Amino acid sequence: MKTVLITGCSSGFGLETARYFLERNWQVVATMRVPREDVLPPSDRLRVLALDVTDAESILRALEAAGPIDVLVNNAGVGAAAPFEFTPVATMHALFDTNTLGTMALTQAVLPQFRQRAEGVIVNVTSSTTYKPLPLVAAYRASKAAVNAFTESLAAEVGQFGVRMHVVLPGRSPETRFGDNARPHMHGLQEAAYAGLVQHVMAGLGDTSVPHTHARDVAEAVWRAATDPASPMHIPAGADAEAWAAEAR
Ligand SMILES: NC(=O)c1ccc[n+]([C@@H]2O[C@H](COP(=O)([O-])OP(=O)(O)OC[C@H]3O[C@@H](n4cnc5c(N)ncnc54)[C@H](OP(=O)(O)O)[C@@H]3O)[C@@H](O)[C@H]2O)c1
Repeated sequence: MKTVLITGCSSGFGLETARYFLERNWQVVATMRVPREDVLPPSDRLRVLALDVTDAESILRALEAAGPIDVLVNNAGVGAAAPFEFTPVATMHALFDTNTLGTMALTQAVLPQFRQRAEGVIVNVTSSTTYKPLPLVAAYRASKAAVNAFTESLAAEVGQFGVRMHVVLPGRSPETRFGDNARPHMHGLQEAAYAGLVQHVMAGLGDTSVPHTHARDVAEAVWRAATDPASPMHIPAGADAEAWAAEAR
């Protein structure tokens, strides 16, 4: 029986992905900053472990407790839609610490076991914003574009050891906690110079009348990456992400 370890399982895509793999009889290590057993169905194939991807000790402890894994899903992430001019450097650090460096640190920590066993899959959840230069997400988009670039290069480095690397690029999903969790990182929304742009972008972010992404789309894309060796390195998830990927080709 295969084992997947997923980061950021307290809500949204991570939680749905954990459910999806459990339903398909995998062993699931669902990690969260604050572990909660009650968000997932009870199963003897489920383990819920504490993991903060910005904390090196926490990474070590979680991987030790998890034991051997077959697939790592770097899903934990944080957003911020705000004018870059008013984005504090501390916010840029928060975005890169979680989205970029957290992903890189976990990846580095699992590589020895994957290389020694000559197999393993790493799935990095980035964003369809990397397909398009959208406003108000400059720092967030940069943190995710860095993961795309990281994944592509590392794939060329560790493919020789049987390790597969993928990026799943979800579209806009108003159904997760992403917007609420982003709010504390958003500054400058009231600034007059950006008012028109902010109003326009914010109205679009919550619009469910146009194609958008469901958590299930992301779970399916991660599943495909994990289980199909012929799947492409970049997998858009959600109707909007698929349309943007096609435009970018
Ligand atoms: N929703 C969208 O529109 C969208 C679109 C494209 C890409 N994405 C990406 O998809 C991923 C999942 O987002 P989501 O939409 O499911 O949002 P979400 O509901 O806010 O889930 C994000 C998860 O990441 C966790 N997290 C944040 N910082 C962490 C840290 N330092 N260590 C470990 N876990 C941490 C959160 O845990 P806590 O509960 O502890 O905060 C939460 O479980 C993110 O990487 C996001 O950038 C989202």
